[in-house]
Amino acid sequence: MDTLEAIYARRSIKKFDKNHTLTDAEEQTLLEATIQAPTSFNIQHWRLVVFRDPALRQCIREEFAGGQSQVTDASLLVLFTADVKAWAKEPERYWRDAPPDIAELVPEAIGPFHEKRGDQFQRDEAHWSVGMAMQTLMLAAQSLGYQSCPMIGFNIEGVAKLINLPADHVMGPMVAVGKGIKDPWPKPGQLPLSEIAFEDSF
Ligand SMILES: Cc1cc2nc3c(=O)[nH]c(=O)nc-3n(C[C@H](O)[C@H](O)[C@H](O)COP(=O)(O)O)c2cc1C
Repeated sequence: MDTLEAIYARRSIKKFDKNHTLTDAEEQTLLEATIQAPTSFNIQHWRLVVFRDPALRQCIREEFAGGQSQVTDASLLVLFTADVKAWAKEPERYWRDAPPDIAELVPEAIGPFHEKRGDQFQRDEAHWSVGMAMQTLMLAAQSLGYQSCPMIGFNIEGVAKLINLPADHVMGPMVAVGKGIKDPWPKPGQLPLSEIAFEDSF
């Protein structure tokens, strides 16, 4: 599927075929595509939790996600988290395949850049990256003939505890992927571009 076509075809699907399963190859393709999303300094700080255990999914659906059926019925359910300190963890590996002079220079800049900007920036950066990786997964799913739903309608603290979220990680939303079995309603109220995009300043 053409990229623009995938962008326009993607919708947030609420009902998935719970009997459909992805092949291992399809799942691998989707997850590998997801981590092609860009990150600042290539720090690749997303950490994905793929929920496989049906009992765990049932528990999340009932106890933390207000009964949303995508949690149990999607063929693939991925929670996006990010390591906000990834920039400090052996940054040479993020540039190991670059030309030697670049591979030496760039990692040295990563630490000072992040230290100077501080905690809030590091958290913001994690969420920018998570958003891009989520959309990458959703468009990849679309191009394989699947549908998806981004989801933040769950108890973030509760799920963080359930998955033993490390202290230096932040929680992002989940993305459910599967075979949609109910069409979404038409887009409910798309704003005109003129209300959203400005020229040069507000
Ligand atoms: C970060 C984020 C979280 C969302 N959380 C949920 C959710 O928990 N459950 C749900 O059904 N839809 C969720 N949505 C889907 C939005 O409602 C949907 O994207 C919006 O209404 C636009 O519709 P469309 O995606 O079909 O174009 C979420 C979307 C985003 C971007």
